[in-house]
Amino acid sequence: MSSYDGKVVFVSGGTSGINLGIARRFAGEGAHVAVMSRSQDKVDAAVAELGEHAIGFAADVREPDAVAAALAATAERLGPIDVLISGAAGNFPAPAATMSSNAFRSVVDIDLNGTFNVMRGAYEHLRKPGAAIINITAFQSWSPTPFQAHVCAAKAGIDQLTRTLAMEWGPSGVRINSIAPGPIAGTEGMRRLAPTPEAEAATTAAVPLGRYGTTDDIAEAALWLCSDKAGYVTGTVLSVDGGLALGGSSALSSAIMA
Ligand code: NAP
Ligand code: COA
Repeated sequence: MSSYDGKVVFVSGGTSGINLGIARRFAGEGAHVAVMSRSQDKVDAAVAELGEHAIGFAADVREPDAVAAALAATAERLGPIDVLISGAAGNFPAPAATMSSNAFRSVVDIDLNGTFNVMRGAYEHLRKPGAAIINITAFQSWSPTPFQAHVCAAKAGIDQLTRTLAMEWGPSGVRINSIAPGPIAGTEGMRRLAPTPEAEAATTAAVPLGRYGTTDDIAEAALWLCSDKAGYVTGTVLSVDGGLALGGSSALSSAIMA
């Protein structure tokens, strides 16, 4: 029997891409999974795929009351939350010189403020001690990346939230870590950042391991990081990026600017 059998896992932004890959992997281990994103259609499709124990909520992470209601309903229907994944995010490449302040604010609101809303709303419903939180950040959190000012700022903020709340909530027995994916194949994020074969080739060339990652690469890391095997790990940022961040993201920047 898997150590995740019957565990309760909440995934914000869990209806597509990397986050759905994580939700799928936990569900495959027997966890009871709740997903939340804005589109009811995406929520319904994800719940149908994730199996009989899955539930879902259409809510925007920028609305703290709606987020809190979804988390409370999850705890009521499935039980105390063992694993929280905060992965909802928005991104588009845009030069800072012409980016509107609303464009900058939208991404910071979804990524950073949204992550705070999800963590804050979840705290009272976490199983304590023993709960694990993963915030999904990105290599942009420490690699300055042109045309990604909003994402770089928001994801760096998320990593500081991870470290700060790891200190605040550690004494309650809650572990908090970030995963920073590199370029992941077949995702909306990379469709936006490297939309052409040329940009994809330039991105691949920037990765020391020489390939895009898969959603399974990220899900496997999440599974480990939330398990007892990582029971002494908190406040870290785990890069799962094929080594991209080691050399900075300059080659990726060229791809985005191409
Ligand atoms: P994605 O498929 O677009 O996933 C984003 C998810 O967040 C969707 O389920 C989306 O569903 C939801 N979402 C967006 N805005 C929301 C909001 N305001 N409130 C609630 N939910 C919202 O993108 P992805 O590329 O897989 O990215 C997933 C995560 O990985 C993100 O945190 C991203 O920054 C990170 N990441 C991705 C890559 C990559 O290679 N793709 C690399 C590094 C980091 P709705 O549209 O229904 O709201
Ligand atoms: N370049 C420059 N500005 C852009 C832009 C782009 N490609 N796309 C959106 N914006 C601006 C809009 O013009 C608007 O600014 P304005 O009011 O000054 O005109 C602002 O960003 C907000 O756009 P809006 O469409 O109203 O926001 P939203 O809250 O409906 O959607 C986004 C949020 C923009 C992040 C949208 O792309 C989204 O929903 N993304 C989720 C999926 C995703 O990004 N996946 C990848 C995750 S890594």
